[in-house]
Parts: sequence; structure tokens; C-alpha cells
Amino acid sequence: MEFVVEPLNGPIGREIVGLDIERDIAPATAEALREAWLEHGVLVFKGIGTSPEVQLRLSRCFGELEPHPIPKFRHPDYPELILLTNQGGSAGPVYDFDGTAICGRIPWHTDLAFTTTPNAGALLHMIRKTDDGGQTGWLDMALAYDELDDAAKAEIEGLEAVYLFRAGLEEMRFNNPGGTRLTPRNDSYPDFPPVVNPLVWTHPETGRKILNVNTLNIERILGMDEDRSDALIERLISHAMQPQFQYIHDWANNDMVLWDNRRTLHRAAGHPVDQIRIVHRTTIKGTVAMGRLLEAEAVA
Ligand SMILES: [Fe+2]
Repeated sequence: MEFVVEPLNGPIGREIVGLDIERDIAPATAEALREAWLEHGVLVFKGIGTSPEVQLRLSRCFGELEPHPIPKFRHPDYPELILLTNQGGSAGPVYDFDGTAICGRIPWHTDLAFTTTPNAGALLHMIRKTDDGGQTGWLDMALAYDELDDAAKAEIEGLEAVYLFRAGLEEMRFNNPGGTRLTPRNDSYPDFPPVVNPLVWTHPETGRKILNVNTLNIERILGMDEDRSDALIERLISHAMQPQFQYIHDWANNDMVLWDNRRTLHRAAGHPVDQIRIVHRTTIKGTVAMGRLLEAEAVA
């Protein structure tokens, strides 16, 4: 074996130790990495992200890469890398939290949950960390589902939820982190129509059941009155947020973390806007639709 799988300082995810990605990765090693990703949901590679080339080489072990749909977010020299930085100004909104201007704070979510087909995964590569803040967390929603009691599992089986795109934290209906918006709302986002996703999803590769509750985008349970719907979503979120389902990564430069976006939620703590952070991200393309457009349902 070209690497070993070690526990992290948390209950979920694993660290990959001893992997050499400075040269080509053998097909058998790539397949073993892919199996570890599917088995554990989050893989941490400490200190070996030395260049864009090694990030791309590692990322390609897990599937086809997807460039960012908006060209300005693509790395100018490596179009499959997405540049996440506040250098030259924060691309995302800035909020005041307790007297500090914070950028990049994104509460628990899966990527592209407001579309019918989420990406399979993503990999973050820390180029320049900040002195304060900046941690990223992951939540294992397969484990969270397993730990629901039988009555709760029966209650949510077959239910579906409406998910919406959010242009800012102030639009969140559940677990809203607060904060006061300091930058104007960006109205240039495309118009994403509402989608319907199952509340319990079967992972397309592992067959495990996933509790599909996303604090950023979830709006309501389809076909349920608002009070009951809100109470159920709040109950499921408070179950899922428990520390035994979480791993929080405190970054060092050159760390890389890969996650399974169909199984885990992630969150970005954000950092003071006057500190520069540079991250390169790759996205593993999704190939399996989870939900459908709400409008298509209404018309059918
Ligand atoms: Fe994300």
C-alpha cells in the first residue's frame, strides 16, 4: 500500500499519511484512495499540497473535474482550479459579527443543493491561511441518519424538501448565524428555480442512507403545513449538528481536504476581511441527479 489511513482528532473522516503525489499516482493507488473517500467521507492530506499540479493529480483520482461555471472564479493558468480569496477584495458578502468584519462565513451546507445534481465532491488546498478564523468543518450525514431512532427514520422516509438558492445569510430560514451585512446585495446571480430533494437520500455509490438536511438552502417540507414542517426541520438540524458527527479542520498551509458532497455537510467559519486567505479548490463533477425542479412537479 502506498499510504496509510489514520484517525483524525475527531470522530469522522480520516488522514491519509505517506502518500507521494510529487510523481504520477499508480492506478491501483488511485483506486484505493477512491475507496477510502467513499468509505470515510472526508480525507485530510496534511502538508503535501505543494503546487497546482499535485492538487490536480490527486483530484483526478476521484472523478472528472468541473471548472467553475463563472470564468472569473477560475484560476487564470489552471481552469480546473477555483480561486477562493479575498485578495483584491472579497468576492462574497462581508458581515459584522460582534464588531469584526468577517468574509467567507458559510453555515452548514452541501454544494449545489439548490440544483438537481450536486457535485460528487470537492478538494480544498490551503495556499495562505489567516492568523484568525478560517477553519472548515464537516458533518457526516450518513452517521447522523444511522443515529436517528427508528420512529424518526419512519417519520421522514419518503418525505421531500424544497431547496432554494440563497444570495446571503439573511435569507436562511434555519440556523441563521445572524450578523449584519456590510456589503450590498449582489443582484447578478442567475435565477435558480426551486428544487425538490428527498429528505433521506440513498448514496449512489455506497448505498448508505443520508439525512439530507442542509441549513443554508432548505425551505420547507413538501406538502406539509408550515408549523409542522418548521418543527421537523429544526428537530432534524439539531440532531445533525451534534459534535459526534463533526470534524473541524484547523488549516496549515499546503493542507488539502477532500470530501464526499453527497454524504457530508461542510461549513466555513470565515475570517476577518482584513486578513488575506488564498485557497485553491477543485470540484469532482456530479453524475447522478438527486432531485427535480419544483415547477416540473407542479406541471406534471
Ligand atoms: Fe461549499
